[in-house]
Amino acid sequence: MSKITAAITAVGGYVPEYVLTNQILETMVDTNDEWIVTRTGIRERRILKEEGKGTSYLAIQAAKDLLEKSNTDPKDIDMVILATATPDMPVAVTGVYVASEIGAVNAFSYDLVAACSSFLFGMSTAAKYIESGRYKKVLLIGADKMSSIIDYEDRATCIIFGDGAGAVLFEPNEEGLGVQDEFLRTDGVGRPHLKIDAGGSILPASAETVANKQHYVFQDGRTVFKFAVSNMAEVSEKIMERNGLSGEDVHWLVPHQANKRIIDATASRMNLPEEKVMINIDKYGNTTSATLPLCLRDYEKQLKKGDNIVFAAFGGGFTWGSLYLKWAYNSN
Ligand code: UT7
Repeated sequence: MSKITAAITAVGGYVPEYVLTNQILETMVDTNDEWIVTRTGIRERRILKEEGKGTSYLAIQAAKDLLEKSNTDPKDIDMVILATATPDMPVAVTGVYVASEIGAVNAFSYDLVAACSSFLFGMSTAAKYIESGRYKKVLLIGADKMSSIIDYEDRATCIIFGDGAGAVLFEPNEEGLGVQDEFLRTDGVGRPHLKIDAGGSILPASAETVANKQHYVFQDGRTVFKFAVSNMAEVSEKIMERNGLSGEDVHWLVPHQANKRIIDATASRMNLPEEKVMINIDKYGNTTSATLPLCLRDYEKQLKKGDNIVFAAFGGGFTWGSLYLKWAYNSN
């Protein structure tokens, strides 16, 4: 019997309707379109405005899009992994609610938290369940309502993040397509540089933490940028080396969309021309766990069976890594 590999067999996505442009941000904080575009590549982002709707709403829409497009019966799904940094609430697992709402009544589910690398690490996790032979359909969703943890008076963060969700279905493949290799890394040195101070077990919520704005994301951008540029490029180069891939062999880079300059540096180290790099940061900003699957959603029609795809991400913790996958289908 040939070895089972874990292939992506369907893709879906969702972004909310409300568009927060650089021009609108200019009226909210001391910033300008030119600075944002040249320093980050972002022109606009989507925000989930409706009260009472959280990350689960985004995740459900993305999952439904996938189910509809691929004609998948939710009852056939064995497992739902929700990659997120912004669960609906602590304790009650958001992925479980999402699974129930989409009708995945035979699945078990949990949330996977690794900041901006959540989806990448989720791909690794989903692939292992498939490769074990025990599960046939694993739905991996990356979703974040970043607007729920951003201070719209802090220009260092509010210009970067947006809301969105993407989903992929993993299934067994016997042609050798799907996940080939991964190189995942973490380092606790990153903890002070990208975090939310309060609301966790160290500093529970209080009137004081709210007054001090400690429930919002803090980012020391310059330090994170330095680590992200060198580490994302390094792991991407490493996975190519390890698998004997040159720039010509790689059809696509799917990079985390945190900053266009980080993406360009990674592509350059991999010897990839711009047209092989998936980019949608201009439209959505940094949607944290949703950047990679939203890229797949936007570029799906251009992907061909057998394409060599390298995924790369970097996020809080620090967490980062790369993953090499062979695309399993032609979408046209
Ligand atoms: O996804 C998780 C991982 N996150 C990342 O990978 C993000 C990594 N970091 C970055 O992308 C960048 O560091 C930022 C986009 C956050 C910031 O860009 P930067 O080029 O590192 O800017 P900086 O923080 O070094 O600031 C440069 C200047 C400063 O002014 P002075 O001190 O040189 O006078 C800032 O005060 O730009 C100023 N500045 C702004 N100006 C206009 C900072 N934010 C803004 C702003 N608008 N929004």
